[in-house]
Formats: sequence, structure tokens, C-alpha cells
Amino acid sequence: MDAIEPRFSNDVSALAARFALPGAVAFRSSPLGGIVAELDFAGHRAEVALFGGQVIGWAPARQKPVLWLSEAARLDAGKAVRGGIPVCWPWFGPAAEPGRPSHGFVRTRVWSVRNVQAAKDGVALTLAAPLRPDDPVPSGLDLSLTVTLAHDLTVALTTVNGSSVPLTITEALHTYLAVGDIAAVTVRGLEGAQFLDQLSGQTRTETALLRIGGEIDRIYAHGDGGVTVEDVALGRAIRVDHSGSGSTVVWNPWIEKSVRLGDMAEGGYRRMLCVETANAGGCVVTLAPGDSHTLTAKLSVAAL
Ligand code: BG6
Repeated sequence: MDAIEPRFSNDVSALAARFALPGAVAFRSSPLGGIVAELDFAGHRAEVALFGGQVIGWAPARQKPVLWLSEAARLDAGKAVRGGIPVCWPWFGPAAEPGRPSHGFVRTRVWSVRNVQAAKDGVALTLAAPLRPDDPVPSGLDLSLTVTLAHDLTVALTTVNGSSVPLTITEALHTYLAVGDIAAVTVRGLEGAQFLDQLSGQTRTETALLRIGGEIDRIYAHGDGGVTVEDVALGRAIRVDHSGSGSTVVWNPWIEKSVRLGDMAEGGYRRMLCVETANAGGCVVTLAPGDSHTLTAKLSVAAL
């Protein structure tokens, strides 16, 4: 199926007529502004905003939401949405050139719908990023995001270098996990990994299980092994498995930075932790003309 053109991406009826699948995929205007796709599979639910190509909600059947979304989030304010799974691309972190946005430019654009699929083992939605000729990337690239809802949630970001020159990117699926109490969380799976502490600029090695007691902003050199967030307050463990990823970013702004950010409610930092599936820090992806690369995060939940 061809992508619906971006100019139709703000027309719920056109989207529904072309892509809705009864009981599996619906489109609606969100109370947060903008349009969301709602995915439904056997009582599992996910919500994907066309703004940013961003998953903004996921709740497995009989579970509390697994993704955190700021109370202040809006999908029509032209600003990056704090929560869910923002797409950082084609750079992670501050831009190399002044005046360009942090974490790239696709998280503040309205994506188009390319495809939907419902099968007996899950429901999938593919969105395409609206790249423009004046973007600071070679022309001819294709960037798409496929969200697959089954018992787990899988998000796959694919870059195709259809240009005639090599392409180098950094990227992240900047996943905001919802936790009951950040101070009672343990992060498992990063032991032994080297990390860049973005707060001090130092490189160190993680020696033990990770507990969070203050602002944290670290880029771990961590390949395809999984990371588990054990949350005793909610009695569950959230596992993040990744592929195509050379780094994992762990971020929580804690008190002062969340006040500075201005888009988190008071105490919001206690209920979230970002575990980001990334290629960042020293880890970049270089694609020869014609090559493609997929960064995948698979989230699953189990009782503790
Ligand atoms: C994290 C970065 O991935 O995102 C942090 O490591 C940054 O340095 C955070 O502060 C949030 O970024 P933004 O642009 O969404 O406020």
C-alpha cells in the first residue's frame, strides 16, 4: 500500500477510510491535539501519534500503562512530546550545527501512514517520516517506523539510504518507561558496560546493578543484550530488548532539571525512567548508498 500523502495526515476520515481495520486499527482526533492511531490486539492497546511518529501509550491487557507520558504533553504545539517513544534521528543529542533542534528534526513533524496489517499474532502500523529536500540530510533517504502490537510491543525504525552518497547517523528510540517510584527501581543488564556520564563528561564502567537517586544521563556502550527495569512499587519488571543498537541511554532529569524543562508536572520525574535504544555517543551508523539499517526496541512486561 502506498503511504497516504502528508497533506491528508490531518484528515481522520480519509485515514480511517483507507487504513482502519475494524477491531484492530482506528484513527481519531486526540484530546491532546493531532491525530492518533489506536491499535488493539486481544485486549492489549497502543496509541501512536502521527505527530513525531511517536508511540504515546501502551498498556498490555490487565496492566497499567507501561509508557510514561507527561501531563503537559500536547500533540499540536510544534514542540517535541515529553513521553512515550520519541524518535531521535538523524542525530542524537545536541545538533552539530547551531540553530538545529536537539535529537534531530523528525520528532516535531507529522508522519504519514504507509501501511497497516492485522494477523492472528499481532497488529502492525507503519508510518513514514516526511523528509524534505531542504533537510540537512542527502535527498533520497527513506525513514519509516513500524509499531507491532502483540503480547509485547515492538518498535522498529528503518533508515534506507537511497541517496548516492554514504550516510552517517546517530539515533534513538527515546523510551519513557512508567515506574511506580524511581527511587525503588533497579536496572539490570548494564553491569560491566562502559558508559559516558553526560553530566560529568567522564567515561566509567558500571560495576553493579543500577539504582537511581538523582539526575542521571548516561550513554552505555551496550550491544544487543536486554535491559530490565525492576519496579517493586508496581510489582513488575519491564524488559527492553534491542537489535541494531550499540548503545543504551539511561536518563532521568530528577528535580531541578525537570523544573527547567517546563513540560513535566511536579514530581513527574519520580514516575518515569528513560531506557533508550540507541546508536549514540561513540556509536554511529554509516550506510553506503543502497544500504538500510533497522533499530529495534522490543518491550515486554512480567510480574516481579
Ligand atoms: C536524553 C539525553 O536522551 O534526552 C539528555 O541524554 C536530554 O541529555 C534528554 O536532556 C531530553 O532531551 P529533550 O531534548 O527531549 O529535552
